[in-house]
Amino acid sequence: MRTAQFPGKSHETRATRAPSGASAVQLVTDDPDLRARLHRLLAPHYAVRMATDGRRALRMVMAQPPALVISAMTLPDVDGAGLVERIRSGPRSRDIPVILVCAPADRVAGLRAIDRGADDVIVRPFVGSELLARVRATVHAARLRALEERELHALLDDLKAAHQRVAVTAAAERRRIERDLHDGAQQRLMALRLELGLLAERVADGEEVVTRRHLDRLRGEVDEALGELRDLAHGLHPPLLASDGLYAALSAASRKGHVPVEVDGADVGRFAPAVESATYFCCLEALQNVAKHAGPDARAAIRLEARHGVLVFSVTDDGCGFERPGIEGDGLTNLRDRLGALGGHAEITSIPGRGTTVLGCIPLTPAPSVVRPDVGTTSSGGAGLHVI
Ligand SMILES: Nc1ncnc2c1ncn2[C@@H]1O[C@H](COP(=O)(O)OP(=O)(O)O)[C@@H](O)[C@H]1O
Ligand SMILES: [Mg+2]
Repeated sequence: MRTAQFPGKSHETRATRAPSGASAVQLVTDDPDLRARLHRLLAPHYAVRMATDGRRALRMVMAQPPALVISAMTLPDVDGAGLVERIRSGPRSRDIPVILVCAPADRVAGLRAIDRGADDVIVRPFVGSELLARVRATVHAARLRALEERELHALLDDLKAAHQRVAVTAAAERRRIERDLHDGAQQRLMALRLELGLLAERVADGEEVVTRRHLDRLRGEVDEALGELRDLAHGLHPPLLASDGLYAALSAASRKGHVPVEVDGADVGRFAPAVESATYFCCLEALQNVAKHAGPDARAAIRLEARHGVLVFSVTDDGCGFERPGIEGDGLTNLRDRLGALGGHAEITSIPGRGTTVLGCIPLTPAPSVVRPDVGTTSSGGAGLHVI
């Protein structure tokens, strides 16, 4: 039963009792025939509210934004296009779709109103089913727009946060390099310089002190400083990665660690330096996690594959796995950020007692949207499987 029969003399009515959860539609017209017709068509599907002029309609719209406004083109106080403009300029109402209903003589003015922000114009006399279909389409399109906008905002927030983390990580990394240089090679070179200065003085004084052993020791110091510089440079960008690509660099890095690692993907090919570098360091982070967290007997496998314009890599281990999703530390956050910065994505899957997989993907051509990896096992993984 409806709470309000459609209006008699009142200028405003509250919403009729529509199906529960129905969207609200605001009607605006002082034409009793149009009001009656629209009410009859819409009330079974929408919570219909009515106003007889633009001023009242605006007040109602601002107080409680409806899903749609349907207004006659001619109103006592403002024309339909003017009402559209006012709705578009209100921060709470600017996204509410508006359909204008006009007489045949107002068709051109109605169409012009589309330029001023109306979503649709229906010319009288109209077929009821067509009006309903257009109302549905307009409400649906507005809902999709709002959803997309929310998703875009969420994505933008994620991206901003990730950029900030990347900037913080980069600054921390620069400090680490500076510290390593300062405490390592720089100290050694300073000590060497002092020692060479002393030696030079003693030679100048005619002392026969420069023994073969002494020079060998100094050469050893120079070698150590060189080694430290080389290691530092390797950590920044391994030369093998630049010269021979991912498979070779990851195979070499795997041989140096304590975890047995099988690398698969010799024919994966070459990619842009940023893609190779991100993949390399993500795989190293995952391998480090295997060594740190997966238990002493864990073994790991790295897989590299380029398919459908996306580089997909995975690092899987058969270690202890982990219980709770959401316990990401800096390692996994950095890993996600590295991939996110290239439009890619990571999924970490773990089954306690069975092992962990880090799966990542990077689009090989710049893509506007975030790419999600295709993980067949995720949904069918069953009890104990955690995807984070
Ligand atoms: N391969 C793995 N096996 C078992 N647990 C893991 C593995 N990888 C990650 N984890 C769990 O996820 C947590 C977060 O990892 P990460 O972000 O790299 O931080 P960190 O290694 O500094 O602890 C780890 O502390 C560990 O509990
Ligand atoms: Mg880690």
